[in-house]
Amino acid sequence: MPVGRKEEKPLLRMLSGGPVGSAGAPPIWLMRQAGRYLPEYRALRTKAPSFLDFCFTPDLAVEATLQPIRRFGFDAAIMFSDILVIPHALGQAVRFAEGHGPLLEPIRSAADMQRLSALGLRDRLAPVFETLRRLSAELPAQTTLIGFAGAPWTVASYMIEGAGGSDFVNAKRMAYGEPQLFAGLIDLLVESTIDYLTAQIEAGAEVLQLFDSWSGALAEPERRRWSLEPLTRITQRLKALHPEIPVILFPRGAGLLYGDFARTSGAAGLSLDSSLPLDWAAAELQPHLAVQGNLDPILLLTGGAALDREVKRILAGLGDGRFIFNLGHGILPETPIAHVERLLELVRKGSG
Ligand code: CP3
Repeated sequence: MPVGRKEEKPLLRMLSGGPVGSAGAPPIWLMRQAGRYLPEYRALRTKAPSFLDFCFTPDLAVEATLQPIRRFGFDAAIMFSDILVIPHALGQAVRFAEGHGPLLEPIRSAADMQRLSALGLRDRLAPVFETLRRLSAELPAQTTLIGFAGAPWTVASYMIEGAGGSDFVNAKRMAYGEPQLFAGLIDLLVESTIDYLTAQIEAGAEVLQLFDSWSGALAEPERRRWSLEPLTRITQRLKALHPEIPVILFPRGAGLLYGDFARTSGAAGLSLDSSLPLDWAAAELQPHLAVQGNLDPILLLTGGAALDREVKRILAGLGDGRFIFNLGHGILPETPIAHVERLLELVRKGSG
């Protein structure tokens, strides 16, 4: 067990079914809390030639993880890495072009797929585990260390499209038209992700989050088959291997399927996007697990009275149940630091 006992960590306590309601302020952290909105991140980022090199240099990744903890004292530190280290570890060429986001050599056929291999996955991802080991020794006693991975569908969509910002035509065509080929890729990602997350636990991760950022792009019943089912398989297997480690799922845009995630996935926490009505989430999701979210990142960027109002509405709507304050998606690079400070003040002191 890393530094800090479970009882001292508000996020772990919330995810393990600890006391709620009058217990005080909910734990808070923000998706993508390390990154370009911080001047100290922008300075650090210049020390590596490429974004993947940055992710794979433990000195830099540890420092990037700690920056938002030092500045804001969030209840959780999410290790600095990216969901696309998995395609890289499977042998696909991945790079991040300045101003263009990720670029991958697309996987479109059985022959492309045959070039992928999970052999050596742990070796290729060894720097990530080193980052976690160092973080678990360095973090303050009350800070929970979160490990993460992308969900199979979201990672597969980047692998097939070759870039972000597409409308998923190639990935969805493969899912509809060649379901066996597509299922083979999803299965490879399920197995690789279980192995990767198991190694993260062994290196000190105390909570795991799976990002299915593009769950909402799938039509029903494909969303059930390629988002809910693989995430449930991963969650159940991790729970069998490491029952003490809570899993948080983020099926962004999953709509009504969030109800199935809450009832059947086995997750300890569910991260809500900003589109979900709070009263529905309180009635249908919160009785089953802890919910996390769901402030619109644009409101954090906007600040002022609109931010104050919405934070209070979320606290009133979800604060009586098991709840972790977060955004509905990642923080945006243009977000003013003063707005993050204001958010913490509102959530922690209830002032305003
Ligand atoms: O602080 C943290 O949350 C930890 C680090 C983290 C990053 N990416 C760092 C990063 C995490 C958890 C992620 C997850 C991630 N990566 C997701 C899921 C969450 C989401 O936002 O939907 C996705 C879809 C990706 C893939 C990805 N990585 C894209 C599309 C991009 C380019 C767009 C962008 O935001 O720049 C990245 C690059 C990336 N990952 C950056 C950071 C800080 C910016 C690159 C840089 O600093 O040079």
